[in-house]
Amino acid sequence: MSLGVGDLTGVRVLLGVTGGIAAYKAALVARLLVHAGATVDPVLTAGAERFIGPATFEGLTGRRVRTSVWEDIPGQTHVALGRAADVVLIYPATAHTIAKLAGGLADDLLTTTLLAATCPVVVCPAMHTEMWQHPATAANVATLVERGVRIVGPDDGTLMGGDVGAGRVSEPEDALAAVHAALAGRPDRAGGDLAGRTVVVTAGGTREPLDPVRYLGNRSTGKMGVAVAKVATARGATVHLVAANVALPTPDGVTRHDVTTALELRDAVLGLVDDADVIVKAAAVADFRPATVSGTKIKKADGIPTIELTRNPDVLAELGARRDGSAGGTPVGQPGSPLLVGFAAETDDPERHGRDKLARKGADLLVVNDVSRTDAGFATDTNSVIILGADGSRTEVPLATKEQVAGHILDEVVARLGDAGPTRAAR
Ligand code: PMT
Repeated sequence: MSLGVGDLTGVRVLLGVTGGIAAYKAALVARLLVHAGATVDPVLTAGAERFIGPATFEGLTGRRVRTSVWEDIPGQTHVALGRAADVVLIYPATAHTIAKLAGGLADDLLTTTLLAATCPVVVCPAMHTEMWQHPATAANVATLVERGVRIVGPDDGTLMGGDVGAGRVSEPEDALAAVHAALAGRPDRAGGDLAGRTVVVTAGGTREPLDPVRYLGNRSTGKMGVAVAKVATARGATVHLVAANVALPTPDGVTRHDVTTALELRDAVLGLVDDADVIVKAAAVADFRPATVSGTKIKKADGIPTIELTRNPDVLAELGARRDGSAGGTPVGQPGSPLLVGFAAETDDPERHGRDKLARKGADLLVVNDVSRTDAGFATDTNSVIILGADGSRTEVPLATKEQVAGHILDEVVARLGDAGPTRAAR
């Protein structure tokens, strides 16, 4: 993947916000990062929370805002966040936080996370001129620079209380440029958390022909599946996109396999399964097709036709069944038995129906979306989902862009792939 200017797709930015009046500008930074395609994990210090609320960052990033080291102890939030980050940006950084970083102190979530992070760190200081020029601050900044931390700003300008001088936080655009610069040394994102993995994604909606001009179809555009393909590629995966009637462009680096009908989609997926580590089935696949297809256009003059339907194979359930060693299929974890992620398009009681589907189809994860909403499901740029795990997990993703939702789905995938042996391609 190329990390050209403006393209941060698949990049995970840990945005640390500390307690200064400039904290409000961190909201603009979050917005710029999200616009550039980044997945942003905001971490607010207690001081930051007095200047700006978590809800602002949650709304802008579509991600959970973390504020305390005491939440989710088993999940070891600080270690998980530190390891997952491709870059840390602290905006604004107070003199106190800079001093803690220089001294290696870890008394809150942000500083603890910083000690667990091995990625590039960008710090945007903001404080009064006297504090910035104090020898202690100067020495702390020098220590950080020596360790490879990028210090951006501060600028000269108006400070809190009307004072003018050095200490004003750098502009959000400068912080964004610094994030790009920090990542420039890793142009191929070879360290992405899906590097070496092969992911097959289905997208779009199948069309089942009635005659040479008509078909039974559905409203899927492929946006959700294409978003998964794009983000998986950006995170280092080799991605095959099985596209059912998708009019969208293919994301860079993705191999596309165009199909029309459910049977063609099945053939394409089964042809790829042996090399796949993960299969994400975002396509809306017709459960039924016309039992016979007329070779010529059905004529209105011949009266209202009766269309007999026949069942299509359920590809997800078929893949799930291969898991069941007792039924003569391939046991979980063996070649030909990738991690399975299904979707459920529901209109009533989505979670209950989703749970039923998860069990029935033998998937590892099921992404439930309510397609009766106008801002989620079919054809929208946003989605709101619940990700159910066969292990009993439940992750709610509030309304966010489809790329952000894809990021959450792939987080769940990565957590389950863990150290699960060599990739299919490597075997
Ligand atoms: O493409 P967009 O416009 O962005 O819209 C996105 C979406 C709404 C299509 C997507 O988010 C979504 O919900 N996709 C699944 C649609 C669907 O077919 O849901 P289902 O509940 O009918 O099927 C459940 C699962 O079984 C799906 O993973 C489906 O791919 C799979 N299936 C279904 C039928 C079948 N014959 N074979 C299958 O593999």
